[in-house]
Amino acid sequence: MATHHKTLKLLAYSPDSSDVDSQLTRHQAGLKQLAAVLISGRGSNMAALVAASRDPAYPVEFALTLSNRAQAPGLALAASLGVPTAVVEHRKFDGDRAAHEAAIDAALVAAGIQIVCFAGYMRLLTPFLIERWAGRMLNIHPSLLPAFPGLDTHARALAAGVRLHGCTVHLVTQTMDEGPILAQAAVPVLPGDTAETLAARVLAQEHVIYPLALRLFASRQAGIVPPDHAALLNPLPPEAARHNPLPPGAALP
Ligand code: GRF
Repeated sequence: MATHHKTLKLLAYSPDSSDVDSQLTRHQAGLKQLAAVLISGRGSNMAALVAASRDPAYPVEFALTLSNRAQAPGLALAASLGVPTAVVEHRKFDGDRAAHEAAIDAALVAAGIQIVCFAGYMRLLTPFLIERWAGRMLNIHPSLLPAFPGLDTHARALAAGVRLHGCTVHLVTQTMDEGPILAQAAVPVLPGDTAETLAARVLAQEHVIYPLALRLFASRQAGIVPPDHAALLNPLPPEAARHNPLPPGAALP
């Protein structure tokens, strides 16, 4: 991993009750809101978010990529995209989750962060961080929630024999992979799919819906989907059309 990351100095944690006010003020002043992406690995969703934020009209700017793993490849990717990086290694906290999260929170506050985007961050959160950033934390999950929360979603979707799989952007709440849904995209499960081919098809849609959901959320246009409603953006990939016997616009039987 490259050693030239701009690493943020961690300041002491100082709760700032004006966080929400400052988000609103920046929004009203037409300034971009400052966001962080939290990663543990590859960082392809982080890169998709950063790419979208290059549009002057996009309401969010990425001021930080933070990882709990120093060797996460996404850190070098973020640095190559000009996004400041920080590492708060959970290993150094000897299992003290509260202290680890306080250090993460301090890094977010020090960078002036207003919105937190989880993208492949592989640590369970405690109520502290979730409460502290309630309503301002988004996550992307590789399934059509509420189906397949947790890990190994693609293999589990194949084993269950589903015909439709996908991804979900949701707000983070106390129960893992269960917050209010902001956007979903569906992809077909095709004959001969492996967990890898299915994951790749889903990932392409993750890179579409995460920037879209964040844009809608930050510009206050996101509708939160009630749990009993579907919210499919459904940007089907071209190969899906070949498996659809109906001509475009045909009424369903
Ligand atoms: C994505 O599939 C995301 O949905 C899941 O972890 C993966 C992270 O991939 N939470 P990347 O690091 O964004 O490439």
